[in-house]
Amino acid sequence: MLARLDLERFSIRAASLGDAAEIARVQTHSWRESYRGILPDHILDTMDTARRAAMRREILLDADALNLVAYDTTHRELVGFCNAGPSRRQGSRVGELYEIYIVERAKRYGLGRELFDATAAWCRSRGMESLIIWVLEANAHARRFYEAMGGREGTRVHSSVRGFPVVELSYVWDRL
Ligand SMILES: CC(C)(COP(=O)(O)OP(=O)(O)OC[C@H]1O[C@@H](n2cnc3c(N)ncnc32)[C@H](O)[C@@H]1OP(=O)(O)O)[C@@H](O)C(=O)NCCC(=O)NCCS
Repeated sequence: MLARLDLERFSIRAASLGDAAEIARVQTHSWRESYRGILPDHILDTMDTARRAAMRREILLDADALNLVAYDTTHRELVGFCNAGPSRRQGSRVGELYEIYIVERAKRYGLGRELFDATAAWCRSRGMESLIIWVLEANAHARRFYEAMGGREGTRVHSSVRGFPVVELSYVWDRL
């Protein structure tokens, strides 16, 4: 385990439109690795990466959003990404980390922390005062990560993922 990000091995940079297909690949892999047992197999096994790449292109075109990627300099491929912007439920003074996904083999090297810190700094630079993240209540690993980043548990909402009922839990940072 590394105490901090190994900059020889990984780097973080702003995503470009040309990253859309790779981000979709990382998203599919990370979902299958991280949500097995949390979401039903049929949802994970039928993820449409090409459709997600098309949706990602739309997300990457949004000038009001932050899109970062984590790159493995040894294997020369993307291993993670995050996407943030104004909160969907709380309004523009609150920042929201909409997505943060890292593939299994690149977890616990400090990439999550780097992406989180860069998101918090970006939100501050945009005048946002606090930060919120929604996580599946059953996603124990991510919850430990958000707790390690200093987040406190907020509210729960019932929602669904492709028709499968889930409980989403928020983590909140009251001051950035
Ligand atoms: C959650 C996630 C982004 C964390 O990224 P990461 O790069 O693995 O995390 P880091 O290496 O920066 O960890 C920072 C600290 O968070 C805590 N932490 C991270 N993962 C943890 C885990 N699985 N269990 C317990 N604590 C954890 C630790 O305190 C860790 O510090 P340490 O490694 O020095 O002990 C990553 O595991 C991931 O992509 N998970 C799958 C997708 C997902 O669930 N995303 C969230 C959707 S809401």
